[in-house]
Amino acid sequence: MSSFNLAVLISGSGSNQQAVMDAVADGRIPNAKVAVVISSREGVYGLERAENRDIPNMVIDRHDIATLLETLETYDINGIVLAGYLTVLPQDVVDKYDKKIINIHPALLPMFGGKGFYGIRVHKAVLASGVPYTGATAHIVDRGVDTGAALIRGVVRVLEDDTAESLQKRVLEVEHRVLVQAVKALAESRVEELMKKPMVLVDDKDKKGVFEFAQGLIELGKVLTAEDEKSI
Ligand code: GRF
Repeated sequence: MSSFNLAVLISGSGSNQQAVMDAVADGRIPNAKVAVVISSREGVYGLERAENRDIPNMVIDRHDIATLLETLETYDINGIVLAGYLTVLPQDVVDKYDKKIINIHPALLPMFGGKGFYGIRVHKAVLASGVPYTGATAHIVDRGVDTGAALIRGVVRVLEDDTAESLQKRVLEVEHRVLVQAVKALAESRVEELMKKPMVLVDDKDKKGVFEFAQGLIELGKVLTAEDEKSI
């Protein structure tokens, strides 16, 4: 069976890209292949990560739509993963790869999402708001900013002594898990199913705390622990 070819788009360190490459390499995302890594910026560590795995990688200027579309064609791409790609995809690309593009956002969308909500600013806003939980959301990319249907969320409790940096670190770890599950669903044609009934990953250690919070979560999607995650 031919593999499900993924293009991973980045702009920075690429830890989410690494999580996807690792999951593909160790078989957690079967029948998939990271065919190409495309960065919007020169000299980012994500390009080195691709090089280390002998994965074709390149920089394409974010305005160069023609080259981006051509490259996606060249590598026969079936699905696109935005892994810290800090620019809005051109509409031509979004339209052509409808429901085949996944983004990872460091908050529980629709909260703390949209224009201006990226990087550490998201976590600063979460702390300033006083919400007890935050997390990460893997969602379908549509024509808006962070407005596409959520597929999988991962919940992270905000701790008393959290700084934006400490929160960002814990959320990033959950992003990796959430993104891997969403890319697996994409490769296994389960996106429509998740769009109808998203999933929510919670941390076993925090199970009691989260289930107190679960009433709100239930509306967000089916609550699963890491244990359930293995059998998704
Ligand atoms: C992640 O926090 C992601 O949610 C956001 O940008 C960051 C990228 O981090 N869109 P990395 O490059 O994957 O380490």
